[in-house]
Amino acid sequence: MALMNPKDMFVAAYDGRYAIGAFNVNNMEIVQGIMEAASEEKSPVILQVSAGARKYAGQTYLMKLVEAALTEDPSVPVAVHLDHGATFELCRDCIDGGFTSVMIDGSHLPFEENIALTRQVVEYAHPRGVWVEAELGKLAGVEEHVQNADHVYTDPKEAVEFVERSGCDSLAVAIGTSHGAYKFKGEAKLDFDRLEAIGKLLPNYPLVLHGASSVPQEFVELCNKYGGNVAGAKGVPEDMLRKAAGMSVCKINVDTDIRLAVTASIRQHMVEHPEDFDPRAYLKPARAAVKAMVAHKIRNVMGSSGKA
Ligand code: G3H
Ligand code: 13P
Ligand code: ZN
Repeated sequence: MALMNPKDMFVAAYDGRYAIGAFNVNNMEIVQGIMEAASEEKSPVILQVSAGARKYAGQTYLMKLVEAALTEDPSVPVAVHLDHGATFELCRDCIDGGFTSVMIDGSHLPFEENIALTRQVVEYAHPRGVWVEAELGKLAGVEEHVQNADHVYTDPKEAVEFVERSGCDSLAVAIGTSHGAYKFKGEAKLDFDRLEAIGKLLPNYPLVLHGASSVPQEFVELCNKYGGNVAGAKGVPEDMLRKAAGMSVCKINVDTDIRLAVTASIRQHMVEHPEDFDPRAYLKPARAAVKAMVAHKIRNVMGSSGKA
């Protein structure tokens, strides 16, 4: 199967009350780990590339890795998505480079400017068969252990106006999640009433949850046990993600959990095998850790096993 526009994945996910996992990719082992999990679980998957990933690995390298993964198991439906595109030009370059989906993130802009920027990307993307995700509202953030007070939850009525006027195909909403490993200081809480209200006003419309890593404590403990310092990390509980997937959320973004899986595994290997200096010796278990984590997510959080 060729790379696909994610439309059909989202239609099926909406109707089937599950979500598609969107996993960030930065190198070969991460692409392989995710794709092996999707293949074993017979699940559709979205591989997403941030501006930082593009800068680190290069767009062509990442696209070629994805192409290689597709030939390993052509039965897995795969979309390649730009994560948090900040400008029209970046979205255009990714569309021209073969991405099947892009996010234009104008969430920091005033409402009208966010609409205008999103509309500009939509007008370039749609004639080329590319899906456009946009964002309205600002995600909360706990950066370096400091809670970001600057968050704005998505207003349901504004969401409807935004979708109608911008023409975006899916919308990332702010309901209490945040990026990174430090999402909640106290008890985890998401605004499900708000999510329900947005979903009711936008029937059959796919919503997106960013900042949706669950920060598995086993990885945090392994990092800390083997010389790391990841104190107080906390993610979104898996049952909350499951609940969101059963509502209008059709795409759930995961990056931090991949970083933790890789780092925990490498830290453990380095301490337990100080004699090793062949990168394959520690990248192989790291890739296996990504695969196991993603397979667990697909099965128990997204609910997308068997939907390929
Ligand atoms: O939402 C942000 C993603 O986790 C990507 O992070 O820009 O460091 O690649 P990055
Ligand atoms: P996490 O930091 O929770 O993994 O979120 C990733 C994300 O939203 C990518 O866009
Ligand atoms: Zn994000």
